[in-house]
Amino acid sequence: MLLGLVLLMCAPACGPAREVLLLTAQPSRPKEGSSMTLICETQATSQKTDAQLEFCFFKDGRALGQGWSSSPKLLLPTVWREDSGSYWCEEKTTALRATRSPRIQIQVQGIPVWNVSLEVQPPGGQVQKGKKLVLICLATQGTGDITFSWYKGTLGLNLETKTQSSLAAKFEILAVTDSDTEKYYCTADNGYGPSISELVSVTVRSPVSRPVLTVGEPGAQVFPGDVVELRCEAQSGSAPILYRFYHEDVTLGSSSAPSGGGASFNLSLTAEHSGNYSCEADNGLGPQHSEAVPLTVTVPTEDRKELLTSGILEGLFGTLGPTIMALLFCCWLKKRIGRRPARDPSRSPPSPVPQVSNYVNSAAPLREPSVYENVNVVSSGNEVYSLVYHTQQERPAAVEPRRTQSTDQDAAAIYFRLKKASVTDVDYEDAM
Ligand SMILES: *[C@@H]1O[C@H](CO)[C@@H](O)[C@H](O)[C@H]1NC(C)=O
Ligand SMILES: *[C@@H]1O[C@H](CO)[C@@H](O)[C@H](O)[C@H]1NC(C)=O
Ligand SMILES: *[C@@H]1O[C@H](CO)[C@@H](O)[C@H](O)[C@H]1NC(C)=O
Repeated sequence: MLLGLVLLMCAPACGPAREVLLLTAQPSRPKEGSSMTLICETQATSQKTDAQLEFCFFKDGRALGQGWSSSPKLLLPTVWREDSGSYWCEEKTTALRATRSPRIQIQVQGIPVWNVSLEVQPPGGQVQKGKKLVLICLATQGTGDITFSWYKGTLGLNLETKTQSSLAAKFEILAVTDSDTEKYYCTADNGYGPSISELVSVTVRSPVSRPVLTVGEPGAQVFPGDVVELRCEAQSGSAPILYRFYHEDVTLGSSSAPSGGGASFNLSLTAEHSGNYSCEADNGLGPQHSEAVPLTVTVPTEDRKELLTSGILEGLFGTLGPTIMALLFCCWLKKRIGRRPARDPSRSPPSPVPQVSNYVNSAAPLREPSVYENVNVVSSGNEVYSLVYHTQQERPAAVEPRRTQSTDQDAAAIYFRLKKASVTDVDYEDAM
């Protein structure tokens, strides 16, 4: 059948050999951005194998590529929608006789933009006042030139429109102001209708100013046990603001102001809380530190004496041991025994001294009314020994009502140590 067709086509001329040229495109429906090959095929009725053939490809009347060439194929590495049109090819022999193929229509297929998104720099959309905001409009796919548009607010104030042959384009606001706090979106369109991004929020924030710290009532005297309110406030700066409170360089705590303004921190005072206080305000745009505010915690003098005494006693007993104390008592006892008749009765204790002694060897107990001692004199031949032990009965009576629990414990410990030391250290000496 093919043979019949060829014969039929050949039949009218019948003299010299007739050729049929056909142009084909591979692929026949190319996609934008891909390649396409044009092939000019000769279907000769009589093969002239020795003939030198040349080919040329045309689109809408214009020759493509290098013009005439010996190759019956032409590769177009990338085609775009504007490459769509009417194509044909021509063939000529050295005899300058040219043949033209029928025209074919080629339609290059575009890919619509899709998955359009708006990216904000800085990320998160929190931009410092006066700084740059970048809005990048992105499409995952979409061929050819794409027209990007940026819009402000849900009502869509058009900020800018630009066309470029890329999948991303950016729009910048060089120095944002408070009025740039808004929602933004963008669109991208490559001729198939616009694709719209999500709404993205942008917040313009201003850094905090230097905060001011107030510590309690200015000028008021404070004592251990009092609660003072530390209040820190930055006059300007976008919320939320985190405040940190410092005593010297130690962090006392923090407090946040979710909707701006100041924050406070309550501190229960001890004697160690004198010194400089400061605070810091931070909303993520650079922390600011307040000036130092001094605070003096007034420790009542009785307490101070108490602290001092217990400190000295502690040191004395702790380091030198009970021996020194025993010696001291011995010396003191010597004097006391010497002038016992002249004793001042006013030094009697306010309450009777409980006899802690279970000392069975007290042959001649010299009942001494002093709180500080119980003395037993023991004779042994020529020598008389005195056994001294000491019960610190006066100390609990001397306890200040204001005293804190810790000093009470200290006193009790000292008291116990005194007692123990004097009971266990039995001293022998001449009682004159
Ligand atoms: C859509 O775009 C976003 C942002 O560019 C990307 O993260 C995401 O993977 C895209 N989705 C798809 C299905 O490609
Ligand atoms: C601190 O104490 C005051 C009253 O003494 C109170 O009004 C305030 O709420 C307290 N502040 C904090 C942070 O606890
Ligand atoms: C507190 O600060 C002042 C001035 O900043 C300084 O002179 C003083 O020594 C500080 N006091 C303490 C206890 O550090």
